Amino acid sequence: MTDPTVTEPRYPMVRLEVAAADAEEIGVALFEHGASGVEEQDETTLERAAPGRAVLIAHFAEVADAEACAEATGGALGFIEGEDWRHAWKAFFKPTRVGERLWVRPSWEPLDAGPQDVVIVIDPGQAFGTGTHETTRLVLGLLERLGPEGARVLDVGCGSGILAIGALKLGAREARAVDVDPIAVRTTLENAADNDVTIDATTTPIDDVDGDYELVLANIRSPILIPMRAALAARLAPGGQLVLSGLLVSEEDEVRAAFDEVLAYVDRRVQGDWLALVYRARDAG
Ligand SMILES: C[S@@+](CC[C@H](N)C(=O)[O-])C[C@H]1O[C@@H](n2cnc3c(N)ncnc32)[C@H](O)[C@@H]1O
Repeated sequence: MTDPTVTEPRYPMVRLEVAAADAEEIGVALFEHGASGVEEQDETTLERAAPGRAVLIAHFAEVADAEACAEATGGALGFIEGEDWRHAWKAFFKPTRVGERLWVRPSWEPLDAGPQDVVIVIDPGQAFGTGTHETTRLVLGLLERLGPEGARVLDVGCGSGILAIGALKLGAREARAVDVDPIAVRTTLENAADNDVTIDATTTPIDDVDGDYELVLANIRSPILIPMRAALAARLAPGGQLVLSGLLVSEEDEVRAAFDEVLAYVDRRVQGDWLALVYRARDAG
């Protein structure tokens, strides 16, 4: 049994998003503020920064130093308890409202939700998708607006499973999910169980997925999405909609030109540098 008088150590950290070109200089300044270590994350890491940006997480031994550093740099202060300090990003993953009714809550944080709220519980493990990234939030916001009630949903590049879980909690009939990464598939299945929903998640390549879907969601970067356009379009039921995310605003023309060839453009949404597009299956004939 755990002894309640023994508290776990708390590790203070400060998180800053900066231009990638300034990361080294700002990293040095963080050490001058008393940081004992600084981690740099970029567009390839779990907490993905936009291209040209970097996320710095500075670790501190003393809370007072971390507070002073956060104040001086405009960074966010966060804490990790116990041995989870290896996963520094967890300190900054808090319950977050991601739509009118939708919330994302880390499995280790409580949330006092209202009766109308719909809460997705996530432990991303090593998979992408905490709901704190713009690309995920854009899709969740669109999901609420499009209304997945009764829909069959396909989540391509499911990561933590956050989008498929959100769709099911908003009333989708069933969800299929695929990801090239077996860890993402395992994480999706675990998160589905934690949310009391069922997702058919596998590493099946998109070309081999069968069936058709009223809603297809794909939050992956454009160099992967563009060559996938015919396969994505082929999975749409008549009148079905595709939500694309993971796109930079600067890529809009290129992505539009590619997807306009196979689908009918419906709408766009932007958060910061990130763009999501909505397409609809073209009428047959
Ligand atoms: C940005 S994450 C999105 C995770 C989650 N769907 C979200 O919205 O937060 C992109 C995911 O796509 C997966 N992925 C990359 N290339 C893929 C491909 N060709 N087919 C399926 N999944 C792919 C990655 O492994 C990763 O989990």
